[in-house]
Amino acid sequence: MEHFISLYQLSVKEIKEVLQLAKSFEEENYRLDKELFIANLFFEPSTRTKSSFEVAEKRLGMQVLDFAPERSSVAKGESLYDTAKTFEAIGANALVIRHEDDDWGEQLKEGLSIPVFNAGAGKKEHPTQSLLDLYTIKNQFGSMDGLKITIVGDIKHSRVAHSNAYAFERFGAKVRLCAAEAFVDDTLPYPYISIDEAAETSDVLMMLRVQHERHPSKEQVDNYLETYGLTVERERRMKKDAILLHPAPINRGVEIDSSLVECERSRIFEQMKNGVFIRMAILTTILKKWGIINDDDFKKC
Ligand code: CP
Repeated sequence: MEHFISLYQLSVKEIKEVLQLAKSFEEENYRLDKELFIANLFFEPSTRTKSSFEVAEKRLGMQVLDFAPERSSVAKGESLYDTAKTFEAIGANALVIRHEDDDWGEQLKEGLSIPVFNAGAGKKEHPTQSLLDLYTIKNQFGSMDGLKITIVGDIKHSRVAHSNAYAFERFGAKVRLCAAEAFVDDTLPYPYISIDEAAETSDVLMMLRVQHERHPSKEQVDNYLETYGLTVERERRMKKDAILLHPAPINRGVEIDSSLVECERSRIFEQMKNGVFIRMAILTTILKKWGIINDDDFKKC
């Protein structure tokens, strides 16, 4: 059975089913009538993903095992694989992992007999972020077919950009990118446009944080907000019904003017709220695939 490492493992039909299940979790609360343990192994900082996985797990009735790498035997040199095997040995039924290595999933592919959920893999993938972004956009527009979606910012270092560009395209959106030269990733097969064109023509404008922690040479772009960011003046030129997304954390005043973070067209905090329902849905979907739970294990509450 496969771990949940990439959105590519799911067909568009399966992703739609996850989004539908998330909607039912948003409308009604269901709990598992079964004791299950889950460990969230975050080797990189996180506020949203870690906490919303934890809320999702607790709303489903799971027992969440505590882990912080700096207070664990990772500090004595224990590897990711041995840490994961340890949690499996002591009774975890599933693991949620974030790690700086792009391909950490490869290390765990063969050796574990419990499912692993990708909560962020280096610069490569962040599939649950993509699911919650798809959910947020679908809530707004119904369908993504033909929508112009522009991802703006530090494309090169962003796992969100890499996961989302492909995900949006699979759902029929016209994907465009916008970045300072230092943040361009030429491996992505989408056109780059200027920030002014992005602001004026997009139905969905997704701003990204400049990820200084992933820059080997600490690239700096002078006057970033004016040159590549969403200023108040650019926001005024956006299409009437266009929405603004950002996976966060946000560098207020860098990629986006601080006053726009909670403006009318912003769905930034809604994205975070939707993350809980999406994570309930993907946990349920994969645990069912593995035969760890079935429909009879749920009770409405
Ligand atoms: N969007 C996101 O992944 O945020 P965190 O790094 O806080 O989890």
